Amino acid sequence: MEIADKFSNITSLRWLVTGGCGFIGTSLIACLLRKNPETSIRVLDNFSVGTSGDLSEVLSLIEKEKGVKPEGVEVIEGDIRDYDTCHKCCSGIDVIVHLAANTGVASSIEKPRYDMEANVVGIFNMLEAARQNNIIKFISASSAAAVGEVEPPIHEEKVPRPVSPYGASKLAGEAYCSAYFRTFGIRTVSLRFGNVYGPLSKHKNSVVAKFLKQAFSGETLEIYGDGNQTRDFIYIDDLIQAIALSVKADVGGEAFQIATYKETTVNEIAGKIIELMEKEAGKKVKLIHSEPRIGDVKKNYSDISKAQRMLGFSPAFDLNKGLKNTFEYFKLKNLCK
Ligand SMILES: NC(=O)c1ccc[n+]([C@@H]2O[C@H](COP(=O)([O-])OP(=O)(O)OC[C@H]3O[C@@H](n4cnc5c(N)ncnc54)[C@H](O)[C@@H]3O)[C@@H](O)[C@H]2O)c1
Repeated sequence: MEIADKFSNITSLRWLVTGGCGFIGTSLIACLLRKNPETSIRVLDNFSVGTSGDLSEVLSLIEKEKGVKPEGVEVIEGDIRDYDTCHKCCSGIDVIVHLAANTGVASSIEKPRYDMEANVVGIFNMLEAARQNNIIKFISASSAAAVGEVEPPIHEEKVPRPVSPYGASKLAGEAYCSAYFRTFGIRTVSLRFGNVYGPLSKHKNSVVAKFLKQAFSGETLEIYGDGNQTRDFIYIDDLIQAIALSVKADVGGEAFQIATYKETTVNEIAGKIIELMEKEAGKKVKLIHSEPRIGDVKKNYSDISKAQRMLGFSPAFDLNKGLKNTFEYFKLKNLCK
């Protein structure tokens, strides 16, 4: 089969998903298997956050829905900081979605060296392994944090000024992606995700997941600072749409803002979750404000025109719909505890 034909039908590709046991990884794998339960997917994960159990849960769900066991999923326990592991995992692969990382600002401030090793050495190893294995497409998870403290909306022409070590390590990853395309022809795409939320995020401590966990445990919601800081919240299905479009698109060496172009304060998110808890779960939830966190940017939302123009990206979920779906997932998890 010609490679162009394969890319038009993405489930005929052989995928490597690093960090495939985490939130975005399991969601991507579920989406691919829903399209075609026979999709060939290799997962590389060190189980530091996501576990093989998290992935198995998703595979069982697909088996129930489709009535077919997804036999094409292979899980390899290993670390992206180890080059030999990366090299072995890339053998026989068409497309890499590189998600494994030290995720988050707070942990990068606590352990900046670890953040650099996972996010800079890690992506370097994966790109080098991609080059040695003639991989055609390499999609990398970057972040709006790579651009840092700039006047919003963030877009690809802004000069990046990372605030946190996490932002700096993601920016270094983008630089290597650019170089590996321009020097070696690996078609890399760096996707700068906004704040991703949705089902399968029970282990996350990002705003939406943290508030929902606190609310269902009967705890008070904690907002860092005055709550007027803004973020661009993107629902997981829209994010996966962006990954799929990037795999298909004839682009390389580019970075894209992947968000919604909408600015929402953390106070607004808390308000919507409190309302959902009262209406749908009959629970009253309280709120406190604590000290702001260092390394957090004040205002953050993204201009997504480039992704719209070059990838055909168009987010479909508004915040109310996305939050309702996420709420239902956390409700179910809470009932099953
Ligand atoms: N979730 C968001 O809002 C968001 C926003 C911007 C960028 N991102 C980026 O998207 C990617 C995926 O995020 P997520 O939310 O799914 O995170 P996650 O923590 O749920 O998943 C990351 C997975 O990578 C694995 N991992 C971590 N270090 C590893 C290593 N050294 N070797 C092998 N595996 C390792 C973990 O075990 C985990 O399963 C990350 O690169 C993250 O920085 C996420």
